Parts: sequence; C-alpha cells; structure tokens
Amino acid sequence: MKPAFPTIVCKDAAALAEACAEKFLYLAFNAVPGPLTVALSGGSTPKKLYELLAQPPYLEKVPWERVEFFFGDERAVPPDHKDSNYRMAHEALLSKVPSKAHRMEAESGNAAGYEQLVRERVPAGGKGVPRFDLVLLGIGADGHTASLFPGTQALDEREKLVVLNEVPQLNTRRMTFTYPLINAARKVWVLAPGAEKRQVVQECLANPEAPYPVAAVKPQPGEVLWWLDKESSRIEQ
Ligand code: 6PG
Repeated sequence: MKPAFPTIVCKDAAALAEACAEKFLYLAFNAVPGPLTVALSGGSTPKKLYELLAQPPYLEKVPWERVEFFFGDERAVPPDHKDSNYRMAHEALLSKVPSKAHRMEAESGNAAGYEQLVRERVPAGGKGVPRFDLVLLGIGADGHTASLFPGTQALDEREKLVVLNEVPQLNTRRMTFTYPLINAARKVWVLAPGAEKRQVVQECLANPEAPYPVAAVKPQPGEVLWWLDKESSRIEQ
C-alpha cells in the first residue's frame, strides 16, 4: 500500500543523517541568491545531522554564508540550560559555521517578537505567510512534533505563526511554530528513525488523518518528506 506521506528509508540513524546532509548540501548550493532559510528541530535525533554538517566534507562544502538558521520550537529555559534546543544546536553546529542564527528566546515568552523576526527575515509565500525553504521536525512516540503536543491549544492556532504553548503532560510551556507557518514551507523533513517511533510512523503512513499532531504536517504547495530507518519503517506482520 502506498504510504500516505513520501518517505526515504535509510539503514539506520547514522545513514539517515548522512543522506540528510547530502540533500541539505544540495539545497544550500541551489539557494541562489539565498539565503536558504532553515528552521531547526530540537531533541536528540537531529543532533547527529548537525554534528555531521559541522565536520568535513560538509564543513568545507556547504556555502554557510548562504544559510540562515531559525528554530521551530524551544523550551522555556535559558540558552545554556541542558534542555535548550539552542544549546544543543549551538554546540553541535552553530558555533562552528558562520551562518546567521536566530535563537528563539522562549524563556522571555515573547512569541510575537519571534514571529515578527520571521516575517522580517523570511520571504512570504502566496498567502503572505513566510515561506521557509526547509523546516526540520522530529516526532515523539505520542505523535507530537515541534512543540505541538496532543491535546494542546497550539494545535488549533490558525492565525498566529509562533505561540507559547502550555504542555500539561510535561508540566511546562514551550514556544513553537504553528501549523500555518510549518505548512507554508517549501520543504518539511520529518526525521523519524528508531523503533520507539515505529508505531506512530506506521499509523501515520497508513492514515493521513491519523490522530497525531505530526499527521497534520501537510505543506501546501510545499512538500513533506519522512526520513525513516529500518526500525521505524518496519511493518509488524
Ligand atoms: C523538542 C523537539 C521535539 C522533538 C521530539 C523528538 O523540542 O524536543 O522539537 O519535537 O523533535 O520530541 O525528540 P527526539 O529526537 O529526542 O526523539
């Protein structure tokens, strides 16, 4: 059966990071005049990709001055906190490349300020919504993506592009892109390797209306691509 979303299946998380890095290099080279606008994801999955991009050959090959980084979500913590997505990305990549990067200051709660920055820096598409060249997303075993968690208010936001989202299941609040901004992107990559993602991956690939926040990532006219490995793409008999 044809999956509900386009997928790329790699051998394992390391091979997935390598394939992602190659495609990222291609996008960066073809972002003329640029910059390639990229929204980074947090969590542990993309760390391998970020670390790979910060090493040869990508460190030398990618035209970093033509890449501009943003964050798709952030925890309400300072940038040096162990849970900070910025800290992870800065240590793995941003501190090693000359690209402009815009930290999401979630601890300030100023979601409107980050939305304003995005509107100023990212060219708008047809509906006047900023159109990122690439949005990187991960998924949780509960089907959340960015900080769009099941049952939270941000799922219903259709006007604002960046909001503070109360996440009772984590007893915290997070700043996050909303669907209008994510779904305006040219490309959205959902990085979902690993056995612990298999169940939610398989349900979403079998049903585009699956009851998970990640299943509502359906960029138009852009395209979504799910990056899987053998573990998450395995179909249980
Ligand atoms: C975050 C991410 C979140 C993450 C998933 C998967 O801020 O944590 O934006 O959506 O992508 O929780 O996390 P792992 O990659 O660690 O499995």
